[in-house]
Amino acid sequence: MTLPSYAMNQAAFPEMYERWLVRPLFRPWAEMTLEDLGLSSGDRVLDIACGTGIVARVAEERLGDAGYNIVGIDISSDMLAVARAVAPRIDWRTGNASALPLRDAEQFDVVVCQQGMQFFPDKTAAAAQMRGALAKGGRLAVATWRSDNEIPFFRDLRRVAERHLGAIIDQRYSFGDAAVLEALLRGAGFDGVHSRKISRTIRFTDGAPFLRLNTMALVGMSAAGKAMADEERKRIVEEIVSESAPALQQYSDGSGLAFELSTNLATARG
Ligand SMILES: C[S@@+](CC[C@H](N)C(=O)[O-])C[C@H]1O[C@@H](n2cnc3c(N)ncnc32)[C@H](O)[C@@H]1O
Repeated sequence: MTLPSYAMNQAAFPEMYERWLVRPLFRPWAEMTLEDLGLSSGDRVLDIACGTGIVARVAEERLGDAGYNIVGIDISSDMLAVARAVAPRIDWRTGNASALPLRDAEQFDVVVCQQGMQFFPDKTAAAAQMRGALAKGGRLAVATWRSDNEIPFFRDLRRVAERHLGAIIDQRYSFGDAAVLEALLRGAGFDGVHSRKISRTIRFTDGAPFLRLNTMALVGMSAAGKAMADEERKRIVEEIVSESAPALQQYSDGSGLAFELSTNLATARG
């Protein structure tokens, strides 16, 4: 199994990610980022750390029959299996962002990395690989969530989990400093590096599956959770889910769960 680090070894994680998280949580930012970059017919598009491939898939929707040059790369072949089932025409490749599996001299007009950079152990190598993959005059976008200390909903849920697990460094929100992201891209040789903070309201009609997945991620990322046997981890997830009900209630209205979420979006040119 090659699952993302926060998947708590759950084989069903990629399907759950696609079913419950992609449309409400990831798709709106993919649409916004590609709008921002401006896709043109014939653009070659690379989606790095593509997961189940929402950026590449939105690019395919936008480019239609001109979208034959779209590549999605992820380290998890299990995430890619879902991507491949949903969008078989896209070229999905298993590989590491620090050593992209590209053909000789293969380059792209648009390179996007949406919520992947925070997980790369060697960010300098990944930024250099992005630079090498971007054609002259091409457009880059890298998005990383702001720190969860700035996102009250996630901070509140983390605090409930920390009552059981001790301090948790949530990798998903571990690269929230825009200045560090900008410096990384400048250091890799990109031109016109610019970043901005973007916030929007995220809505889930049913907050329950989201809460369970988020709790699994928190338990899976914590030092205490990593040391537990599977059965104990599952029990702790149930306890935290149940204790999180008041926090969830606070962010719920008649139409479901709604909370503010913020990302950095850094753009640059090749
Ligand atoms: C939060 S998901 C984001 C997926 C997708 N970009 C989206 O917007 O839905 C992070 C992804 O990064 C991938 N990932 C983590 N480390 C990686 C690495 N070193 N190289 C390539 N992909 C990596 C994980 O497998 C996971 O699919």
